[in-house]
Amino acid sequence: MEKIIIILIIICLTRGEKTIKKGVQAEPTPMCVWEGAPPNGPVIYKRPPQQADPPVQDCIPIQNGTLGGCCNYTQMLYFTEKFKTAISFFGGCPACVNNIHTTWCHYDCDPYQASFVSTTNHEDGQPLLYPKLTMCRRWAKAVYESCQWVHFVSSMWPTYEAFWITQGGDTLPIAVEVLYPENDDDPFALCPLDELEKCEDSCDCLTCPIACQSGQMPPYENDEKKVGAISQFNFWMIIGCSLIGIMFLFVIFKRSQEFFKEKKLQTF
Ligand SMILES: *[C@@H]1O[C@H](CO)[C@@H](O)[C@H](O)[C@H]1NC(C)=O
Ligand SMILES: *[C@@H]1O[C@H](CO)[C@@H](O)[C@H](O)[C@H]1NC(C)=O
Repeated sequence: MEKIIIILIIICLTRGEKTIKKGVQAEPTPMCVWEGAPPNGPVIYKRPPQQADPPVQDCIPIQNGTLGGCCNYTQMLYFTEKFKTAISFFGGCPACVNNIHTTWCHYDCDPYQASFVSTTNHEDGQPLLYPKLTMCRRWAKAVYESCQWVHFVSSMWPTYEAFWITQGGDTLPIAVEVLYPENDDDPFALCPLDELEKCEDSCDCLTCPIACQSGQMPPYENDEKKVGAISQFNFWMIIGCSLIGIMFLFVIFKRSQEFFKEKKLQTF
């Protein structure tokens, strides 16, 4: 019984440490992790963002802010060329094309790239392998919703998760795995909702049924269940850990009582 309690306490402490660590580094800072395109890239390249030299011709709003960005000229030539495939596929719906474009522009050029892109290898100059992009579910879902009536989109990818598994394939120099944060408001997730274009703004009725109706899109409902401001998982974690803590104190109390009883018996 006591062994189990000790193991549970260790789990609670490590979990608590993780949560605290996350809380401490709550502010993303400008930093890049990769750049380039075939044949010499993409490679790991950790550095602060900068203005591309020569200037890039694509993703300009994201690359050319006061901070600069993370992509370089060659990389953007490759991107523009490859993105033509996406345009021909999703072309019936400009909002859909633009939303996918916005996603990959952030992935390529965002000055805060390092806060939502992680890599398996870390040495500068090494090839970029198995990159992972963390994006909020609201963005993932909203982009999918702007695309789902195009051609065969919803029969090929019945859910937004399925959609994002293969999206980078043709456009990016190397496929990226999309991850979702535990908390959808995590500042370390790509979530450019203010740049979202809705399909009814630019797509025809066939590629955006909502454009044929006068009605509005239903409001997005967050999948994650929350208790107050914290996720349900964390809520039960706190309750569970508190109970284990109380049990632990109780066991110690019992033990010390027994110990003093024995001592008393010995002295008398
Ligand atoms: C872009 O980055 C790649 C990889 O580091 C490099 O090979 C290429 O020369 C760079 N292009 C420019 C224009 O700096
Ligand atoms: C990028 O920003 C620089 C400095 O802010 C500006 O001089 C340049 O014209 C911009 N380039 C583009 C393509 O917008």
